Amino acid sequence: MGVVVAGNQDIASRHVADIIFNQLKSKQNSVFLLPTGSTPLKLYSVLIDMVQAEKISFAKAATFNLDEYIGIGKGHGQSYHRFMWHNFFGKVNINRKNVSIPESKPKDAEKFCKAYEKKIRKTGLDIAVLGIGENGHIGFNEPGTKFSSETHVAELSKSTINANSRLFKSKKDVPRQAITAGLKTIMQAKRIIVLAFGKKKAKAVKLAIEGRVSEKVPASVLQKHKDVVFVLDEEAASLLKKTRLQAPSIAGITIYSDFNLPKGKNIAFFSPHPDDAAISAGAIISKLAKKNKVYEIVMTTGHRAIDSNRTLPQKIKERERETRGEARVLGTSPIFLRCRFYDRENEILEADIRKTRALMRSIKSDIVFVPQKGDKHPTHIASRKMALASVPHKVELWSYETPWALFGHKKFNAAFEFGEKEMKRKLNAVKKHKSQTERTNFDRAAKTIAEFRQVTIAEQIFSQLGKKPLETKPYLELFNITKW
Ligand code: F6R
Repeated sequence: MGVVVAGNQDIASRHVADIIFNQLKSKQNSVFLLPTGSTPLKLYSVLIDMVQAEKISFAKAATFNLDEYIGIGKGHGQSYHRFMWHNFFGKVNINRKNVSIPESKPKDAEKFCKAYEKKIRKTGLDIAVLGIGENGHIGFNEPGTKFSSETHVAELSKSTINANSRLFKSKKDVPRQAITAGLKTIMQAKRIIVLAFGKKKAKAVKLAIEGRVSEKVPASVLQKHKDVVFVLDEEAASLLKKTRLQAPSIAGITIYSDFNLPKGKNIAFFSPHPDDAAISAGAIISKLAKKNKVYEIVMTTGHRAIDSNRTLPQKIKERERETRGEARVLGTSPIFLRCRFYDRENEILEADIRKTRALMRSIKSDIVFVPQKGDKHPTHIASRKMALASVPHKVELWSYETPWALFGHKKFNAAFEFGEKEMKRKLNAVKKHKSQTERTNFDRAAKTIAEFRQVTIAEQIFSQLGKKPLETKPYLELFNITKW
């Protein structure tokens, strides 16, 4: 089971839209099983935007709806027919003939259910998108529904009547019955995506993913399916204990927030000069340092950037003192390599490699940060080469951008989103390098780049965006993550 946790509903919905985008790209006549409710509203609006911007087309696609209330009629304000036409079908280029929604007033409900099941079986389902009820229901398969159930008439449970009464004049107006695709019907889908947002869903999500497979929790049946992904926000994921939380990705770019970052790893951050780590990645470092061991490996003394009459040892001491201050803010352990290439015109020296290799052997890192390939600063170029010559293989390599060369188009595949609090800490860390910020406002540079990245990220995922930009936190740090 995959569990993707996104920073907000927009990012989560775009992650799902991205899966649908790829599905339609590989098979135009894909068949979808779709939900109603408040959860998929953002997804539908993102898909509408994409269709209107001609990024995807539902012209050849077919859909089935999971369920419909019995008795209220298609025209009722709360009927799922109305919901779907109002919130989705009416605004995309789907062919009316390819839309199937259970009848609200079938003449013979049993007969209708059999025919609906047969129709689904005939086309099959490529992707089922589901919401989840607070009691763990999917569709209207309430607790106690048999895992072997097909499309059927279901009695709504008290919990569902309560939850849905917010949409009706009063509780007594909520229909007591619905037609729903059964659990076996849903399990036929090749892929299943479950969306859940908010604290109210946390318990159901926890039981569905980490609980025992039991008919008491209908969604727990999904543990038996081989291609299921839960796409959650932080609150809906808040009770998960054992599960690895993945970050969402849109158009090939993974969007990290503080709760879906790697955990329990040894991380080596190679900083060419003492202040590069804070300027380039201070926000993500401070978050990573909370749940990982982060070594900040300062490769050069950076003494040339101190304009004073002081002696060389004094200059080195000053920069290392500033770095220790920064490391206290970010929560890292600094290591000073004092590589000799810095004073030897960036010549890659065996002695430096040996020293770095020995260090890398002792810290056994799983993740290594280096300046990105396109960096133009001579010391950064040499530092990247040096680091890569010393890093053992089979690590995850996170290349980062520095003010000396921003990533070009499509040259990065990950972003870390963060807010004002993290920015404050990052700037505080940068400002510890007073000898540098007195000369150049690197703090302003760091803030400007992170803000610029947030504003322009939309251009990088343009191929899958409609007219509305991606809603992330106000700042981004960018990375290119590869296997090394
Ligand atoms: C809707 C459906 C239901 C909902 C669930 C969550 O077609 O089948 O299972 O997905 O009740 O509803 P919301 O999204 O309103 O919290």
